[in-house]
This record gives sequence, C-alpha cells and structure tokens, in this order.
Amino acid sequence: MAKLIFTHNNGEEVELPDDSPIAEACEQSGVPFACTEGVCGTCVIEIKEGKENLSPPTQEEQDFLGEGACDERLACQCRIKKGQVRITF
Ligand code: FES
Repeated sequence: MAKLIFTHNNGEEVELPDDSPIAEACEQSGVPFACTEGVCGTCVIEIKEGKENLSPPTQEEQDFLGEGACDERLACQCRIKKGQVRITF
C-alpha cells in the first residue's frame, strides 16, 4: 500500500493501493478540481516529500507547469507508485 499525507488537512493520512490515481483522495481532502484533464491548473499541489514516489509528469503537466517545475504537480494527472508522499496546496 502507498500513503498520501495531507499537510493542509492536519496531516490526514490516506492509504491507497500502489499505482493509484491520487485525484479522488485529494478532492476529499479539499483540493479543488475543475477540468480533470490537466488543462486548467486548478488542482495544482505542492509535493513536500516523496515526489520520487509519484508517476513521471504527464505531457499536460509539463505543458502547464514547465519542464523545470519539480515540487508542483497536477493532482488530476499523477498516480502514487508506492511509499509515502506528503502533499499540500
Ligand atoms: S483539474 Fe484541471 S488541471 Fe487538474
């Protein structure tokens, strides 16, 4: 199992199977969503720890966030591969 920790939500922890999309858990923790297709940028989150445990940025994320952005991701686009990831927004 992989684990998301929501720093913005008093450190709430949510366990997900390895290689799961994180969108639903993020939405339940209060992260706003709109397009869910990586276009609008509404769901941008900051990765405080464990970014290596997320799937590589999608083309949509690279287009929106830029190639060099390393701590920001679009929550509608990424999956957690394993381990633990600490998030805020
Ligand atoms: S909800 Fe629009 S980019 Fe994620």
